[in-house]
Amino acid sequence: MPGSDGARNGAWWRSAAIYEIYIRSFADGNGDGVGDIAGIRSRLPYLAGLGVDAIWITPWYPSPMADGGYDIADHRDIDPLFGDLAEAGALIGEAHAHGLRVIADLVPNHTSHRHPWFRAAVAAGPGSPERGRYWFRPGRGRHGELPPNDWTSVFGGPAWTRLPETGEDGDPEWYLHLFAPEQPDLNWNDPGVAAAFDAIIRFWFDRGVDGLRVDVAHGLAKDPDLRDLGPAAAGPRAGAAEAAGHGVTGHPHWDRDENGAIFERWRAIADSYAGTPRGPRMFVAEAWRVRENGLARYLRPGRLHTAFNFDFLKCPWDPAALRRAIDGHLAGLAEVGAAATWVMSSHDLVRPVTRYGLDGEWTDLMQGEYDGPVDVRLGTRRARAAALLTLALPGSVYVYQGDELGLPEADVPGHARRDPIWERSRGRRRGRDGCRVPLPWDGTPPALGFSDREPWLPQPAGWSALAAGRQDRDPDSTLTLYRRALRLRRTAAGPEDPLRWRDTPDGLLAFDRGESFTCALNLTGRPVPLPGGGEPILASAPLTGGTLPPDAAVWLHTSPGALSPG
Ligand code: NOJ
Repeated sequence: MPGSDGARNGAWWRSAAIYEIYIRSFADGNGDGVGDIAGIRSRLPYLAGLGVDAIWITPWYPSPMADGGYDIADHRDIDPLFGDLAEAGALIGEAHAHGLRVIADLVPNHTSHRHPWFRAAVAAGPGSPERGRYWFRPGRGRHGELPPNDWTSVFGGPAWTRLPETGEDGDPEWYLHLFAPEQPDLNWNDPGVAAAFDAIIRFWFDRGVDGLRVDVAHGLAKDPDLRDLGPAAAGPRAGAAEAAGHGVTGHPHWDRDENGAIFERWRAIADSYAGTPRGPRMFVAEAWRVRENGLARYLRPGRLHTAFNFDFLKCPWDPAALRRAIDGHLAGLAEVGAAATWVMSSHDLVRPVTRYGLDGEWTDLMQGEYDGPVDVRLGTRRARAAALLTLALPGSVYVYQGDELGLPEADVPGHARRDPIWERSRGRRRGRDGCRVPLPWDGTPPALGFSDREPWLPQPAGWSALAAGRQDRDPDSTLTLYRRALRLRRTAAGPEDPLRWRDTPDGLLAFDRGESFTCALNLTGRPVPLPGGGEPILASAPLTGGTLPPDAAVWLHTSPGALSPG
């Protein structure tokens, strides 16, 4: 097998369980109602006890917070809301002492409109090198009153904003932002941009960060002609248009081949840390609008290490679809020797409990778009089963904060919503606040142990029953299930043991890994006999009379030689 990681020793990212910390909502250490570095430091024992191997922390950089920190004004500092550089250093050191690797967030597609580069670009005027770092263009129409092309923002509305007219003749230019207007897109054809990001990457690696999650990795390169999208630009979901279907010439701004050269440059930097005590560093790509089987292009030797598999996450609760998504990811990545990377949710997506409890199909999990009713009990049952399925797969896995508590999506009242999607859609789309509500740690008011002030987003009534402290010693709680699963997964199968599907009746998914591990998920809608040849070691629901109930998963320990072939 071609190995993009060379010797597997030390390639921890190939099999790690990584916990995503949405910093604003994890734990508040300084009592201002917003999560911060001090809060994370205080909860490191919880994370180590949970059994994860690493943490990924969402952006902590100085930011006007137009998009929860994904609008960065200074890539080499920490926003005072979260702490400072010294505290970040202390957190990294303490996490390492707890045996946890640290992944920070790299946001290379855009900066904040308050970044010194953007300010300088606005001031410098058309044709200046400063404007060359972004995408500035004159408008169309007789007076330049129309956007330069038909691209639309992922958050809704046009992807272009016109500069306020200044000076005698006015400024004729518009600038591109595939997300909010406060997030102008960088021009990766500008050599200064690439060089600056090399330095940013080294800055964090030099501070002991073990890896970087690459935001919007599929969006960096743009067609320099900025050609129109055409029919794909029409419709309410236009900004999210898939890359597929755009033919050999490619999509003008998603998933372009030119991204490969950027990734190769970064990989060389990560590899240059091979001789250091903490070894080479890693990247994990967030890449959504990827052509079919396209992730292999991001992950082939010399490029990025891992990339989230969103096809698996987007699967309906359907055995054939789940199996197809698993097989497709494994087969695609095997060709380039990359490890699979599973993800069940994130700070952008409707939480699994709600998604799996929906009556009917979901339309778009990214923007909080779903229609009730939601059966939370059913959703919880399925989310627990999905967790056991996901944690049993070969590769690395990401757990989003709060999923280990079985939190559902919160119903945040309109007046409290902060996601730009809510505002830009004039309240037509809920946005992502519902999965970003601060964690319940215990039953204490006013913030269930998250803070000693009102939290920045309100927590739903009833969440104290889901608090970590309440679930801690309950053998049947979702927290206990996660703890057991995360510990068992370290030894149940070898990190690189491939998956072998069993021949099972329709609706039952079962696979073996290594010599003594089996996972089965029952989607038949009725109880089924436990797959033969093993002893249950963990189940997402009580097993009665040797059967696996519907919407439940089980892990079995099989003694060597007891596995049925196929
Ligand atoms: C993906 C991030 O996860 C999301 O939260 C953000 O809004 C966009 N990228 C833009 O940076």
